[in-house]
Amino acid sequence: MSEQRTTAAGGMETSYGYRRVGAGDKQSLVNDVFHRVANRYDLMNDLMSGGLHRLWKDALVAWLNPPKRAGWKVLDVAGGTGDIAFRIIEASGGQAHATVLDINGSMLAVGRERAEKQGLAAGTDFVEANAEELPFADETFDAYTIAFGIRNVPRIEAALAEACRVLKPGGRFLCLEFSEVDMPLLDKAYEAWSFNAIPRIGQAVTGDGEPYAYLVESIRKFPNQENFAAMIRGAGFERVAYRNYSGGIAALHSGWKL
Ligand SMILES: C[S@@+](CC[C@H](N)C(=O)[O-])C[C@H]1O[C@@H](n2cnc3c(N)ncnc32)[C@H](O)[C@@H]1O
Repeated sequence: MSEQRTTAAGGMETSYGYRRVGAGDKQSLVNDVFHRVANRYDLMNDLMSGGLHRLWKDALVAWLNPPKRAGWKVLDVAGGTGDIAFRIIEASGGQAHATVLDINGSMLAVGRERAEKQGLAAGTDFVEANAEELPFADETFDAYTIAFGIRNVPRIEAALAEACRVLKPGGRFLCLEFSEVDMPLLDKAYEAWSFNAIPRIGQAVTGDGEPYAYLVESIRKFPNQENFAAMIRGAGFERVAYRNYSGGIAALHSGWKL
């Protein structure tokens, strides 16, 4: 389902925005993007989405409905600056333990600082690692979340297989990602906003529009709702379902390890 192919040299080829690159090259390019934007990442999220990312993230937490029970553990992969993890801990009444995993130390450094400021450091671990090779034993977590992260991972199938491996039986998988807009008029406005406004806002706020051009292109290359649901099923998850938000600009996929 994903657009990965084997190159003549035997390496895996994948999309970096609209370019075809080797999987290793994609990861280095993606890492460079997030090192460059880490300090302005949270501000840019608000500007690019008009604050909508907050509602979409709240919807993820509401669907997860974390129990107010000590010992319940969530792994937030590609967790960046900790946005999802902090929301989950708060929704659990401070009971949940969150592990924020990201491949990018600059994003995690911003997250650590936020955790300290918000008094959430005791309930949060930060782990620098790759979603494709999680450094955890089988059946460790009660829930796995990933928000606006999986389209940046070169080998999506590997990340999904790892998600299934580290979840306990009965564990929940939730993935929030930009997706396919299903409303014709909204589609045109969204297209114009994405390709014109977002790189310009990026340029104005961070002094660099290129990372935001990549982010927009990568959204267009990501599998649509049905195709991504099939990939999640292919990784071994059951009762796979999704919900669209803002006309499909974002979609939230859910699955269970049963
Ligand atoms: C758009 S940010 C999302 C951050 C956060 N989840 C949020 O919703 O605000 C994407 C994150 O994916 C991370 N990432 C990219 N490739 C990764 C990989 N292979 N393994 C783990 N994290 C990765 C990036 O470093 C970046 O922090």
